[in-house]
Amino acid sequence: MNISSENQIKLAVQNLLRGDLVAVPTETVYGLGADAENPSALEKIFIAKGRPNNHPLIVHIAKGANLDYWADNINENAQKLIDAFWPGPLTLILQKSNRINNVVTGGQNTIGIRCPSHPVAQKLLQDFAKSKPNGNAGIAAPSANKFGHVSPTKAEHVRSEFPDLDETKLYILQGGASQVGIESTIIDVSQNDVPVLLRPGYITSQDIFDVLGLYPLGANKFSPQVSGSLKAHYAPRTTFTLFSTDEIINYCKNELSGSSKKVAIAVFNKNGLTDQTGIDVYKMSDNHNDYAKEMYSVLRDLDQKNYQKIIFEMPPQTSKWHAVNDRLNRAAAAFDV
Ligand code: TXA
Ligand code: MG
Repeated sequence: MNISSENQIKLAVQNLLRGDLVAVPTETVYGLGADAENPSALEKIFIAKGRPNNHPLIVHIAKGANLDYWADNINENAQKLIDAFWPGPLTLILQKSNRINNVVTGGQNTIGIRCPSHPVAQKLLQDFAKSKPNGNAGIAAPSANKFGHVSPTKAEHVRSEFPDLDETKLYILQGGASQVGIESTIIDVSQNDVPVLLRPGYITSQDIFDVLGLYPLGANKFSPQVSGSLKAHYAPRTTFTLFSTDEIINYCKNELSGSSKKVAIAVFNKNGLTDQTGIDVYKMSDNHNDYAKEMYSVLRDLDQKNYQKIIFEMPPQTSKWHAVNDRLNRAAAAFDV
């Protein structure tokens, strides 16, 4: 596995200082990073992604960084979650410090902050902070994919998303395959009442309960806008559908027999589905964390293979599959017309 060296991390810091972009490997997905305090560098993120600029970016900080530099009024719930889950796949929405520009927060008075655990991300954040006169540095980074597309979990995914940006414009750090594989859990703790779950992820509502003694509320119409919470998101370019096990069996029997269609089907159990013409069957893990880790990569690979349709077998509708179901439903929603 290829992992960037300290020298390559130094080159990445040069890009950040110059106001250019760096792809940052994290344990969730790869991020498209820029200096969080440089509005013209942030602008390059929005342009590269094709992302509307009222969508706020997450600011990544090093372990032990001074959080007060970025956020105000960090309450007890926030502090408990930080102590329990940072560094790790949890983003907190906090009240924004006046010091921070509006470009990074999309004009909101809150800021999303995350301290990633990936060693390459940590080293980059620490070196970048050392290069700043006041020792405070943050890297704003959305997932390194075009707006609405599947998130990248490997360095080569980032390269294929941004073929027009050379190394001086986008320096891609290598960190192997992301261990979690789906985006961070987002919890809004900017208000003093109950925390709100804005995006499910590896850290579950039960994990939050175990630390705070209360479950986060679900997002409602008063919650801040999260682009990952748009109904259609995380989508491949090939038509994508979620089917129950029975629907898959019927589809193979009825719709495909005698047709010249080429379809990919990702299932938990290949039994009885292997000998159909026109169908390639892929076996997915039946462990929710392993599934999350491989999901985007499988989706991206299948998307390259010119299938007419990609079908995923619907995972169990249980709480530990919440984050996976959330992403699959949004990918499928892109094709509900
Ligand atoms: O795992 C992750 O969170 C990855 C890695 C790179 O850290 N990042 C990521 O970023 O998924 P992005 O931009 O694709 O998704 C971040 C979400 C967006 O939907 C954005 O709207 C939301 O976080 N967000 C950021 N700041 C916010 C704020 N102040 N209030 C509400 N939502 C916010
Ligand atoms: Mg994203």
